[in-house]
Amino acid sequence: MGTLFLYIVVVLLVLLYKTPLLSSSPTSLSLPSVLKPGSSLSVENKDDFLISPNGLFTAGFYSVGENAYCFSVWFTKPLADQSHTIVWMANRDAPVNGKRSKLSLLKTGNLVLRDAAQPLPIWTTNIIDSKEPAQLFINDTGNLYLQNNETQVIWQSFGSPTDTLLPLQKFTKDTSLVSSRSLTNHSSGFYKLYFDNDNVIRLVYNGPSVAGIYWPDPKITAWASGRSTWASRRTATLDLSGHFVSSDSLFFNTSDSENQSVRRLTVDVDGNFRAYSLDETRGIWKVTWQAISDTCRVHGICGENSTCSISPNHGRKCSCIPNHTMINQTDWSYGCKPEFNTTLCGNGEDDFLHFPHYDFYGYEARFVPNVTLDECKRVCLGICNCKGFHFNYETEGYFSCYAKFKLINGFRTMSSNGSMYLKVPKSILLLSNNSEKIVHEDRLICSEKLPTVRIDRAYIKNPKNESVKSLMIFTYVFGALETICIIYFFYRTRNPSKTRQGYVQAATGFQRFSYAELKKTTKNFSKEIGRGGGGIVYKGEFSNNRVAAVKLLKEFGNKQGETELLAEISTLGRLNHMNLIDIWGTWKMGHWPKTCIPVS
Ligand SMILES: *[C@@H]1O[C@H](CO)[C@@H](O)[C@H](O)[C@H]1NC(C)=O
Ligand SMILES: *[C@@H]1O[C@H](CO)[C@@H](O)[C@H](O)[C@H]1NC(C)=O
Ligand SMILES: *[C@@H]1O[C@H](CO)[C@@H](O)[C@H](O)[C@H]1NC(C)=O
Ligand SMILES: *[C@@H]1O[C@H](CO)[C@@H](O)[C@H](O)[C@H]1NC(C)=O
Ligand SMILES: *[C@@H]1O[C@H](CO)[C@@H](O)[C@H](O)[C@H]1NC(C)=O
Ligand SMILES: *[C@@H]1O[C@H](CO)[C@@H](O)[C@H](O)[C@H]1NC(C)=O
Ligand SMILES: *[C@@H]1O[C@H](CO)[C@@H](O)[C@H](O)[C@H]1NC(C)=O
Ligand SMILES: *[C@@H]1O[C@H](CO)[C@@H](O)[C@H](O)[C@H]1NC(C)=O
Ligand SMILES: *[C@@H]1O[C@H](CO)[C@@H](O)[C@H](O)[C@H]1NC(C)=O
Ligand SMILES: *[C@@H]1O[C@H](CO)[C@@H](O)[C@H](O)[C@H]1NC(C)=O
Ligand SMILES: *[C@@H]1O[C@H](CO)[C@@H](O)[C@H](O)[C@H]1NC(C)=O
Ligand SMILES: *[C@@H]1O[C@H](CO)[C@@H](O)[C@H](O)[C@H]1NC(C)=O
Repeated sequence: MGTLFLYIVVVLLVLLYKTPLLSSSPTSLSLPSVLKPGSSLSVENKDDFLISPNGLFTAGFYSVGENAYCFSVWFTKPLADQSHTIVWMANRDAPVNGKRSKLSLLKTGNLVLRDAAQPLPIWTTNIIDSKEPAQLFINDTGNLYLQNNETQVIWQSFGSPTDTLLPLQKFTKDTSLVSSRSLTNHSSGFYKLYFDNDNVIRLVYNGPSVAGIYWPDPKITAWASGRSTWASRRTATLDLSGHFVSSDSLFFNTSDSENQSVRRLTVDVDGNFRAYSLDETRGIWKVTWQAISDTCRVHGICGENSTCSISPNHGRKCSCIPNHTMINQTDWSYGCKPEFNTTLCGNGEDDFLHFPHYDFYGYEARFVPNVTLDECKRVCLGICNCKGFHFNYETEGYFSCYAKFKLINGFRTMSSNGSMYLKVPKSILLLSNNSEKIVHEDRLICSEKLPTVRIDRAYIKNPKNESVKSLMIFTYVFGALETICIIYFFYRTRNPSKTRQGYVQAATGFQRFSYAELKKTTKNFSKEIGRGGGGIVYKGEFSNNRVAAVKLLKEFGNKQGETELLAEISTLGRLNHMNLIDIWGTWKMGHWPKTCIPVS
């Protein structure tokens, strides 16, 4: 059985090697910025790229992890740290295998990205009714587009941006920018820039458990933020000189406007929306505008029951509110849980901790205008799930009370006179004498970088290693002729009975060869082409020019082994997979039962 197993493995490797060998040559490109109908770009071919005429942008397979690739557009020139800046991705949420994956431009004008291991396309432009072929171009602006004969653009990457908007790329009601998950993980993250239903461009945090708009400031109206809700067109663009113009009256000029520069607008991993210009001499991107200057206003950073603060030395930090501990020691977005287990239910056992200049976003259980502090405390104590309240100074002698049932996106703000009061059990308040000190003590620094994570992909080993080198010769000879026939011989000491022969034939239904025939085709077993565990493989040539590999087995002495072998081959013959072989023959004659495995 060991021999049979070996041979199944051998034939598979042969096939896996054969496929790229045959398909790689016709995909060569006439122009680096155009892909012709019927051709494809392969993940394995290091020269399969499209480059914009000005050389600024490259489209191709980009490595996003170990053996994981995304079809992407990036700035051709690497930065000083040798990294590339990606501006678009086709399959950001489903990277493909580093072997045998390819992007093909079909004759129907459809662009299809396939992963060898997956039966269905990973990504496609979904153009089904195009009557004529189209070509894939990459523009000087970084736009990757399909254009048919009549110079009609039938699809463009500018219509489905990922996290970046390039100059001259239109941002519309049908598009949005979604941040990456992390600096190393390019899949869709939680921050999104979009045109809201009231025609205003907003940033929203769409986390696993909570969601909320954080830009423009949700506490004030769109009008107060200088936005207009009247425009119905919903379009925005950045021009090459750094002027951003939006239909909702969001206008800004980048700090280096008027100067020509390589620019981009990106919703970053940290939730901020920034304009960048390339400093070509230093090889770095410099920020020329950003939507949010106080980055603690971005949602989803610190999780529930924690606060965010900016420290000059360490940047953005998260801290748990007093008497709460981090739920997940490595990830702040999980938030903090209380150390105490008394319920805070207005039974006279609760009191409040005072945090001047702190506020938490939304989640009001109740809003009471024009109240005193004691009244506001009573409001919160009277609500079972009130976790605390924000007591806000509005004007002289006038305060408002915001009783909250959830404490998220806590931040420090010096621009208002408000204070946060946290509801805690009285017993805890007695112990903690100095609440101010507690909240300022930062326990951990919020790290925006996540470690590189290995992406597991179904992976087919490269056959070009030492142990299978001989197989390559084997493959070369037979792959070209498209037929491989492996014939097993069994040295047997006696004739099989007529009934057994009939059984084997019924079970397998394969063809027969005589020993003399095989002796002739292999020229008396003269041309050795390889050696396996169970015997030597010879080259055989049939009269109809069919070439075969004939294996002479030495150790199949007993009847049981033979039956098992034939049953296995029969099973193999019934397997039906495009990467597996079709067996169409196994046969016995006289002393010599033989098996033939052709490659279809
Ligand atoms: C290609 O770029 C030019 C400007 O460089 C632009 O006018 C044109 O519309 C672009 N074409 C497409 C299909 O994006
Ligand atoms: C489209 O291109 C094909 C070949 O490239 C050409 O034969 C055909 O006439 C073209 N059709 C139009 C409408 O230009
Ligand atoms: C941007 O610059 C242009 C002139 O180039 C000027 O007319 C416009 O007012 C500026 N916009 C803003 C928001 O500063
Ligand atoms: C514009 O470019 C010139 C020369 O390259 C430079 O001196 C100047 O500082 C730039 N202006 C801005 C606003 O970056
Ligand atoms: C509450 O926090 C303070 C300061 O961190 C600590 O001294 C006290 O023991 C805590 N109380 C409880 C019940 O954990
Ligand atoms: C903590 O967070 C990390 C990263 O998100 C995750 O891998 C891990 O499973 C989490 N641990 C617990 C105990 O939830
Ligand atoms: C936050 O703290 C409150 C009590 O202060 C608690 O009820 C709630 O479950 C905590 N949230 C999380 C996510 O643990
Ligand atoms: C929480 O409650 C359990 C019993 O429900 C008790 O054993 C434990 O000591 C309590 N923990 C604290 C910190 O009060
Ligand atoms: C707030 O309430 C006080 C008394 O309750 C009242 O005199 C005052 O006019 C109120 N202020 C406003 C702005 O409503
Ligand atoms: C804060 O409150 C004081 C009076 O309590 C007032 O004079 C001051 O203007 C307020 N500041 C702000 C920013 O509201
Ligand atoms: C609170 O602090 C004061 C001095 O700052 C001290 O005298 C008092 O004992 C402390 N109370 C508790 C409960 O620790
Ligand atoms: C990237 O993030 C996605 C979404 O959370 C996750 O499914 C995937 O496993 C992550 N990939 C890596 C390499 O961490």
